[in-house]
Amino acid sequence: DEVLQSFFEVAKRAGTTILNATNSQTSSSTTYLDTKKNSADLVTETDKAVEKLISTTLLSKYPTFKFMGEETYKPGTPLDDSPTFIVDPIDGTTNFVHGHPYVSIALGFALEQKSVVGLVFNPYTGIMYYATKGGGAWKKVLEPTGDGDWKLRNERVKLPIGEPSAFAGLDGTMVAVEWGSDRSGSNWQTKVNTWNRLGRSKDEGGAMVHSARCLGSAALNLCAVAEGHVDIYWEGGCWAWDVCAGWIILTEAGGIMADGNPPSDGNERWEIPITHRKYLAVRAAPGGQKETVKEFWGH
Ligand code: IPD
Repeated sequence: DEVLQSFFEVAKRAGTTILNATNSQTSSSTTYLDTKKNSADLVTETDKAVEKLISTTLLSKYPTFKFMGEETYKPGTPLDDSPTFIVDPIDGTTNFVHGHPYVSIALGFALEQKSVVGLVFNPYTGIMYYATKGGGAWKKVLEPTGDGDWKLRNERVKLPIGEPSAFAGLDGTMVAVEWGSDRSGSNWQTKVNTWNRLGRSKDEGGAMVHSARCLGSAALNLCAVAEGHVDIYWEGGCWAWDVCAGWIILTEAGGIMADGNPPSDGNERWEIPITHRKYLAVRAAPGGQKETVKEFWGH
């Protein structure tokens, strides 16, 4: 609970920084200053500034905890069992650069490599999702006060907003599938094949989901599944900071995070580590979750 309180405070300050960057007269804070692994993997001054704000604030309060953030991560550094903040300062950087308001600050906290506290805040809509292990998943809506602070716009609403729709299997679902920034080799081919099979009509061997969305923020996608306006979210290529915060929000709302790969040895694994990088998030009717995952794996 104490970590969650710290998340509330720092998320509001980070949200103000993002809004100020968006409203600033110069566009340097929203223009990407660099690319990472390829020209579709963007980073801005604001990603770096927000990560610094978050890490400095959290580590000054909790100096013995570790910090893993998207912008300062040193490739190859393993996640260990220590209490660790796992943070994406701007999840949806491509949206941010394009002014598309599906962007979030994703604050996760892991103990023994499991997500136990999560907060996901979209400063453009003011929607904030949060959860602690065993404490349920919640949502509230904030609005900026104009002097750098935020106030509550609505009463907080307990998730689930409604019962999950009574689906089992892919028929009639709304699915989020991301392009991600990795557009090459077998990873890209898997994404294309999955997209193709999900959307195709049944007579042509497809699954005939209702529709698919590519929204651009893994953390918000997980919250969308938790809330039930997306039924399934699949991605290969995410990092722990993309999913740590949303993971606990989803599971506290009754959803599951399964392996995004079909089991290669025939043994189903329903527990995957937060560093796994290939995920399938589902919140179906109780009893329908595993069936849905298995049907997805079949594709
Ligand atoms: C990305 C977003 C995107 C997902 C990518 C992530 P970033 O995070 O979550 O939706 O497809 O895999 O890397 O780079 O905007 O923080």
